[in-house]
Amino acid sequence: MTVHIGAEKGEIAETVLLPGDPYRARWAAETFLDNPRLVNEVRGMLGFTGTWRGHPVTIQGSGMGMPSLSIYVNELIRDYGAKTLIRIGSCGAMQDSVAVRDVVLAMTASTLSTPSRGIFRELNFAPTADWSLIKAAAVAAERRNVNIHVGGIYSSDVFYDERPDLNAQMERHGILAVEMEAAELYTLAARYGCRALAVLTVSDHLKTHEALPSDQREKSFGDMVEIALEAAFS
Ligand code: ADE
Repeated sequence: MTVHIGAEKGEIAETVLLPGDPYRARWAAETFLDNPRLVNEVRGMLGFTGTWRGHPVTIQGSGMGMPSLSIYVNELIRDYGAKTLIRIGSCGAMQDSVAVRDVVLAMTASTLSTPSRGIFRELNFAPTADWSLIKAAAVAAERRNVNIHVGGIYSSDVFYDERPDLNAQMERHGILAVEMEAAELYTLAARYGCRALAVLTVSDHLKTHEALPSDQREKSFGDMVEIALEAAFS
Protein backbone atom coordinates (compact mmCIF):
# COMPACT_ATOMS: atom_id res chain seq x y z
CA MET A 1 0.00 0.00 0.00
CA THR A 2 1.08 3.58 -0.60
CA VAL A 3 -0.32 6.86 0.66
CA HIS A 4 -2.88 7.04 -2.17
CA ILE A 5 -3.12 3.48 -3.57
CA GLY A 6 -4.46 0.62 -1.46
CA ALA A 7 -3.27 -2.24 -3.70
CA GLU A 8 -0.84 -4.82 -2.36
CA LYS A 9 2.53 -5.14 -4.08
CA GLY A 10 2.02 -7.43 -7.06
CA GLU A 11 -1.59 -6.32 -7.59
CA ILE A 12 -0.58 -3.57 -10.07
CA ALA A 13 0.51 -4.62 -13.57
CA GLU A 14 3.57 -3.26 -15.38
CA THR A 15 1.19 -1.81 -17.98
CA VAL A 16 -1.16 0.87 -16.65
CA LEU A 17 -3.88 2.80 -18.48
CA LEU A 18 -4.75 6.13 -16.86
CA PRO A 19 -8.15 7.72 -17.48
CA GLY A 20 -8.75 10.91 -15.50
CA ASP A 21 -12.18 9.73 -14.37
CA PRO A 22 -12.31 6.79 -11.92
CA TYR A 23 -15.73 5.70 -13.26
CA ARG A 24 -14.17 5.48 -16.72
CA ALA A 25 -11.53 3.20 -15.17
CA ARG A 26 -14.31 0.93 -13.95
CA TRP A 27 -16.13 0.96 -17.31
CA ALA A 28 -12.94 0.27 -19.29
CA ALA A 29 -11.86 -2.55 -16.97
CA GLU A 30 -15.30 -4.20 -17.02
CA THR A 31 -15.61 -3.79 -20.80
CA PHE A 32 -12.15 -4.72 -22.05
CA LEU A 33 -10.33 -6.76 -19.39
CA ASP A 34 -10.80 -10.40 -18.43
CA ASN A 35 -11.32 -11.01 -14.71
CA PRO A 36 -11.07 -7.32 -13.66
CA ARG A 37 -10.53 -6.95 -9.93
CA LEU A 38 -10.84 -3.74 -7.88
CA VAL A 39 -7.36 -3.07 -6.45
CA ASN A 40 -7.75 0.53 -5.29
CA GLU A 41 -10.55 2.68 -3.96
CA VAL A 42 -8.67 5.12 -1.75
CA ARG A 43 -10.43 8.52 -2.09
CA GLY A 44 -12.71 6.92 -4.69
CA MET A 45 -9.89 6.92 -7.25
CA LEU A 46 -10.75 3.46 -8.56
CA GLY A 47 -8.12 1.12 -9.98
CA PHE A 48 -8.68 -2.34 -11.50
CA THR A 49 -6.31 -5.10 -12.59
CA GLY A 50 -7.20 -7.83 -15.07
CA THR A 51 -5.81 -9.28 -18.27
CA TRP A 52 -6.11 -8.35 -21.92
CA ARG A 53 -5.31 -11.16 -24.38
CA GLY A 54 -3.49 -12.82 -21.48
CA HIS A 55 -1.40 -9.75 -20.57
CA PRO A 56 -1.79 -8.24 -17.06
CA VAL A 57 -3.14 -4.66 -17.21
CA THR A 58 -4.12 -2.13 -14.54
CA ILE A 59 -6.57 0.69 -15.29
CA GLN A 60 -6.19 3.37 -12.62
CA GLY A 61 -7.97 6.74 -12.42
CA SER A 62 -5.51 9.65 -12.31
CA GLY A 63 -7.85 12.52 -11.40
CA MET A 64 -7.83 15.85 -13.19
CA GLY A 65 -4.73 17.99 -13.63
CA MET A 66 -1.01 17.41 -13.28
CA PRO A 67 -0.80 17.60 -9.46
CA SER A 68 -3.29 14.74 -9.14
CA LEU A 69 -1.78 12.60 -11.92
CA SER A 70 1.67 13.18 -10.47
CA ILE A 71 0.70 11.54 -7.17
CA TYR A 72 -0.64 8.38 -8.82
CA VAL A 73 2.13 8.05 -11.42
CA ASN A 74 4.91 8.57 -8.86
CA GLU A 75 3.46 5.80 -6.69
CA LEU A 76 2.69 3.49 -9.64
CA ILE A 77 6.26 3.74 -10.93
CA ARG A 78 8.29 4.01 -7.72
CA ASP A 79 6.32 1.69 -5.44
CA TYR A 80 4.60 -0.75 -7.80
CA GLY A 81 7.10 -0.98 -10.69
CA ALA A 82 4.84 0.25 -13.53
CA LYS A 83 6.80 0.40 -16.80
CA THR A 84 4.34 1.41 -19.54
CA LEU A 85 1.84 4.16 -18.72
CA ILE A 86 -0.76 5.35 -21.20
CA ARG A 87 -3.12 8.22 -20.48
CA ILE A 88 -6.55 7.80 -22.09
CA GLY A 89 -8.45 11.04 -21.90
CA SER A 90 -10.07 13.95 -23.67
CA CYS A 91 -8.71 17.17 -25.13
CA GLY A 92 -9.89 20.43 -26.66
CA ALA A 93 -8.84 20.97 -30.29
CA MET A 94 -6.92 24.14 -31.24
CA GLN A 95 -6.49 23.71 -35.00
CA ASP A 96 -9.04 23.90 -37.83
CA SER A 97 -7.68 20.61 -39.15
CA VAL A 98 -8.56 18.73 -35.93
CA ALA A 99 -12.22 17.75 -35.47
CA VAL A 100 -14.36 16.61 -32.56
CA ARG A 101 -14.13 12.75 -32.28
CA ASP A 102 -10.65 12.65 -33.83
CA VAL A 103 -7.88 11.11 -31.74
CA VAL A 104 -4.68 12.98 -30.93
CA LEU A 105 -1.48 11.05 -30.16
CA ALA A 106 0.59 13.53 -28.20
CA MET A 107 4.21 13.43 -29.40
CA THR A 108 5.20 16.28 -27.06
CA ALA A 109 3.39 18.19 -24.32
CA SER A 110 4.26 21.87 -23.92
CA THR A 111 3.45 23.45 -20.60
CA LEU A 112 3.94 26.58 -18.52
CA SER A 113 4.59 24.49 -15.44
CA THR A 114 4.40 20.97 -14.06
CA PRO A 115 4.76 19.62 -10.53
CA SER A 116 8.33 18.74 -11.69
CA ARG A 117 9.12 22.32 -12.67
CA GLY A 118 11.33 22.95 -9.62
CA ILE A 119 14.06 20.53 -10.68
CA PHE A 120 14.60 22.16 -14.09
CA ARG A 121 15.08 25.78 -12.96
CA GLU A 122 15.75 27.88 -16.10
CA LEU A 123 15.67 24.86 -18.46
CA ASN A 124 12.54 24.33 -20.53
CA PHE A 125 12.43 20.53 -20.53
CA ALA A 126 10.56 19.03 -23.54
CA PRO A 127 8.26 16.24 -22.28
CA THR A 128 8.11 13.60 -25.03
CA ALA A 129 6.13 10.41 -25.66
CA ASP A 130 7.72 7.02 -26.30
CA TRP A 131 8.22 6.44 -30.02
CA SER A 132 7.40 2.72 -30.00
CA LEU A 133 4.04 3.51 -28.36
CA ILE A 134 3.26 6.35 -30.79
CA LYS A 135 4.05 4.16 -33.78
CA ALA A 136 2.00 1.20 -32.52
CA ALA A 137 -0.93 3.44 -31.50
CA ALA A 138 -0.98 5.05 -34.96
CA VAL A 139 -1.14 1.61 -36.61
CA ALA A 140 -3.90 0.48 -34.20
CA ALA A 141 -5.95 3.65 -34.82
CA GLU A 142 -5.64 3.39 -38.60
CA ARG A 143 -6.69 -0.27 -38.44
CA ARG A 144 -9.98 0.76 -36.80
CA ASN A 145 -10.50 3.75 -39.11
CA VAL A 146 -10.10 6.31 -36.36
CA ASN A 147 -8.95 9.69 -37.65
CA ILE A 148 -5.68 10.50 -35.86
CA HIS A 149 -3.32 13.44 -35.55
CA VAL A 150 0.21 13.02 -34.22
CA GLY A 151 1.96 16.12 -32.89
CA GLY A 152 2.39 18.55 -30.03
CA ILE A 153 -0.23 19.30 -27.42
CA TYR A 154 -0.37 21.73 -24.51
CA SER A 155 -0.88 20.60 -20.89
CA SER A 156 -2.60 23.41 -19.01
CA ASP A 157 -3.19 23.94 -15.30
CA VAL A 158 -6.39 25.84 -16.03
CA PHE A 159 -9.59 24.54 -17.66
CA TYR A 160 -11.37 27.90 -17.58
CA ASP A 161 -8.43 29.82 -19.00
CA GLU A 162 -8.93 33.57 -19.31
CA ARG A 163 -5.40 34.50 -20.45
CA PRO A 164 -6.06 36.60 -23.55
CA ASP A 165 -3.61 35.31 -26.15
CA LEU A 166 -2.10 32.03 -24.97
CA ASN A 167 -4.43 29.85 -27.04
CA ALA A 168 -3.75 32.00 -30.12
CA GLN A 169 0.00 31.56 -29.66
CA MET A 170 -0.42 27.82 -29.16
CA GLU A 171 -2.47 27.60 -32.36
CA ARG A 172 0.09 29.72 -34.22
CA HIS A 173 2.84 27.29 -33.19
CA GLY A 174 0.96 24.23 -34.43
CA ILE A 175 -0.22 22.86 -31.08
CA LEU A 176 -3.03 20.42 -31.88
CA ALA A 177 -4.99 20.41 -28.63
CA VAL A 178 -5.08 21.25 -24.94
CA GLU A 179 -5.51 18.89 -21.96
CA MET A 180 -4.26 18.90 -18.40
CA GLU A 181 -2.04 15.89 -17.58
CA ALA A 182 0.34 14.61 -20.28
CA ALA A 183 3.37 16.85 -19.62
CA GLU A 184 3.82 15.54 -16.07
CA LEU A 185 3.24 11.94 -17.19
CA TYR A 186 5.96 12.25 -19.84
CA THR A 187 8.34 13.98 -17.43
CA LEU A 188 7.98 11.25 -14.80
CA ALA A 189 8.34 8.50 -17.42
CA ALA A 190 11.57 10.12 -18.64
CA ARG A 191 12.90 10.42 -15.08
CA TYR A 192 12.28 6.76 -14.24
CA GLY A 193 13.04 5.11 -17.60
CA CYS A 194 9.42 4.20 -18.41
CA ARG A 195 7.38 4.35 -21.62
CA ALA A 196 4.49 6.83 -21.77
CA LEU A 197 1.90 8.08 -24.23
CA ALA A 198 -1.29 10.16 -24.13
CA VAL A 199 -4.09 8.97 -26.42
CA LEU A 200 -6.71 11.72 -26.45
CA THR A 201 -10.18 11.97 -27.96
CA VAL A 202 -11.18 15.47 -29.05
CA SER A 203 -14.20 16.22 -26.85
CA ASP A 204 -14.53 19.92 -27.69
CA HIS A 205 -13.19 22.50 -30.13
CA LEU A 206 -11.83 25.78 -28.80
CA LYS A 207 -12.46 27.62 -32.08
CA THR A 208 -15.79 26.22 -33.29
CA HIS A 209 -17.14 25.52 -29.75
CA GLU A 210 -18.51 22.20 -31.00
CA ALA A 211 -18.62 19.50 -28.30
CA LEU A 212 -18.92 15.72 -28.44
CA PRO A 213 -22.48 14.81 -27.40
CA SER A 214 -22.50 12.73 -24.20
CA ASP A 215 -24.18 9.74 -25.92
CA GLN A 216 -21.19 9.44 -28.27
CA ARG A 217 -18.50 9.69 -25.61
CA GLU A 218 -18.58 5.99 -24.71
CA LYS A 219 -17.84 4.84 -28.27
CA SER A 220 -14.94 7.30 -28.62
CA PHE A 221 -13.59 6.31 -25.22
CA GLY A 222 -13.80 2.63 -26.16
CA ASP A 223 -11.76 3.25 -29.33
CA MET A 224 -9.08 4.92 -27.20
CA VAL A 225 -8.90 2.03 -24.74
CA GLU A 226 -8.44 -0.48 -27.56
CA ILE A 227 -5.80 1.69 -29.27
CA ALA A 228 -3.90 2.01 -25.97
CA LEU A 229 -4.06 -1.74 -25.25
CA GLU A 230 -2.92 -2.70 -28.74
CA ALA A 231 -0.08 -0.15 -28.59
CA ALA A 232 1.10 -1.40 -25.20
CA PHE A 233 1.46 -5.00 -26.38
CA SER A 234 2.61 -4.54 -30.01
N1 ADE B 1 -9.90 18.46 -21.82
C1 ADE B 1 -10.90 18.38 -22.71
N2 ADE B 1 -11.19 19.58 -23.22
C2 ADE B 1 -10.35 20.46 -22.61
C3 ADE B 1 -10.17 21.84 -22.68
N3 ADE B 1 -10.94 22.56 -23.50
N4 ADE B 1 -9.22 22.41 -21.92
C4 ADE B 1 -8.48 21.67 -21.10
N5 ADE B 1 -8.60 20.35 -20.97
C5 ADE B 1 -9.52 19.74 -21.73
